Amino acid sequence: MDPQPVNDFLRRLESTVGAANVLTDDGDLAPYLVDARRRYKGSALCVVRPASTQEVSRILALCHEAGVAVVPQGGNTGMCGGATPHADHTSIVLALGRMNRVREIDPLNGTISVDAGCTLAAVRAAAAAAGQLFPMSLGSEGSCQIGGNIATNAGGTAVLRYGPMRDLVLGIEAVMPDGRIVNAMKALRKDNTGYALKHLFIGSEGTLGVITGAVLKLFASTAADAVALVGLGDIDAALSLLHHMQARAGGRLTNFEVISGGEYELVMKLPKGLHDPLTARHPWVAIVELTDSDPEAALDDELATIVHEAMENGTVQDAVLANSKAQAELIWAIRHSVTEANINAGLSFSHDTSVPVSQVPAFVRDVERRITERFPAALPVFVGHVGDGNIHAVVVVPRDSAEAQDVEATAAAINAVVDEVAISLGGSISAEHGIGRSNRARLRAYLDPADLALMRDIKGLFDPKGLMNPGVLF
Ligand code: FAD
Ligand code: LAC
Ligand code: ZN
Repeated sequence: MDPQPVNDFLRRLESTVGAANVLTDDGDLAPYLVDARRRYKGSALCVVRPASTQEVSRILALCHEAGVAVVPQGGNTGMCGGATPHADHTSIVLALGRMNRVREIDPLNGTISVDAGCTLAAVRAAAAAAGQLFPMSLGSEGSCQIGGNIATNAGGTAVLRYGPMRDLVLGIEAVMPDGRIVNAMKALRKDNTGYALKHLFIGSEGTLGVITGAVLKLFASTAADAVALVGLGDIDAALSLLHHMQARAGGRLTNFEVISGGEYELVMKLPKGLHDPLTARHPWVAIVELTDSDPEAALDDELATIVHEAMENGTVQDAVLANSKAQAELIWAIRHSVTEANINAGLSFSHDTSVPVSQVPAFVRDVERRITERFPAALPVFVGHVGDGNIHAVVVVPRDSAEAQDVEATAAAINAVVDEVAISLGGSISAEHGIGRSNRARLRAYLDPADLALMRDIKGLFDPKGLMNPGVLF
């Protein structure tokens, strides 16, 4: 756009949301233009910060009329560059942070209705204040927003028991690229009235419209919990332990996370100096947690018995059962420090693979062998949600290595190895982070061309002008 039409466009945005909420200063824009992994640096005509669904509707109608592209942004914690605008200075960033109202809690219906800009932590806190639980839990929960969680169909550590975002959303409100509002804020657990439009928005990564509100499921709050950190001889032992715990604890098994010995070592090397609760290092560790809504449930005893049985039969080498809230927090701090540890260790290439749970050991072994053969300077480490078959293979290379000089080429070569193994085992190239800008070529290689064509058709139906988050997914 020429300068005069741009100025007119910005004035019209200002009259919609107020001048203070149309950011154009370089300093103000900077945090919105870089992704969480600092891989992309974009440029934007402005950042617009609406306070209501009506304002979002007016902004999108203005963009539609002017042919300006829109990049929705939540907490900007996404792992694949989907919330960062192109560097070509033709789009706006639509930041949802001011839309942070809890609209309604209905305890008897077990639902909470929220604005999309509420942080995940705020929604968890609002549910807790009403004596209930919103179960999604991510390392980024203080910053990531419900709209971003829905747009990426986020997972996290409690998927094993409660499912990913797709299982937690009952209703959605969204604004179409031309400004029309889709009001599907249904607080219903059963509703068979044609196509479920909400499911198209879940996982759409900002490419179909802007999510402005959601009705989410609540659960009985956690009144008792027990956490343990256990040392394991290999990844097969993790699967045996998972199987054993599912058989013994059933639905009380809420978290089952694994960390490879190499990843654990990187966490322990962090300058913040986390204390290692285990007395020796192990090839793998698992963090396991039982929870119950019954305050009388003797979960410490139950977990101790189950872990003891697993030690007796040789599955578990070593274990620490958290005996205080502080120790449980330390164990979780270790888990939630992996991203920081990988950044601290060098240049890290992270993957978000899922395979059938039974294939996790084959995936880990194959990736480890092939990466080590092909990239001698690289350290392959693993962390993830093994109960969901979702393992993050992270390949760390020293910043001064040959591999670190051409990041794009190295990423493509490493991705190709990991994806080939995943696909050979019936897996997926993205379990929970999505495609964004980073993984478009991988998606093309992974999907059946007919499926990809159908997805493009759906995109065209919602967004015929191609203004919603161009360059993401396709
Ligand atoms: P953003 O990064 O702002 O955006 C992500 C995508 O959603 C973009 O494509 C954006 O355009 C779109 N979007 C955002 N808001 C809207 C909206 N209102 N309407 C339409 N589109 C929108 N992810 C997991 O799944 N599991 C984990 O365990 C996990 N752990 C993490 C730990 C750390 C330390 C970090 C930094 C990230 C982690 N993530 C994890 C990734 C990230 O937090 C999730 O992908 C999260 O759901 C992104 O939410 P956000 O609000 O930050 O979205
Ligand atoms: C995790 C994020 C990176 O599981 O998905 O730590
Ligand atoms: Zn994860």
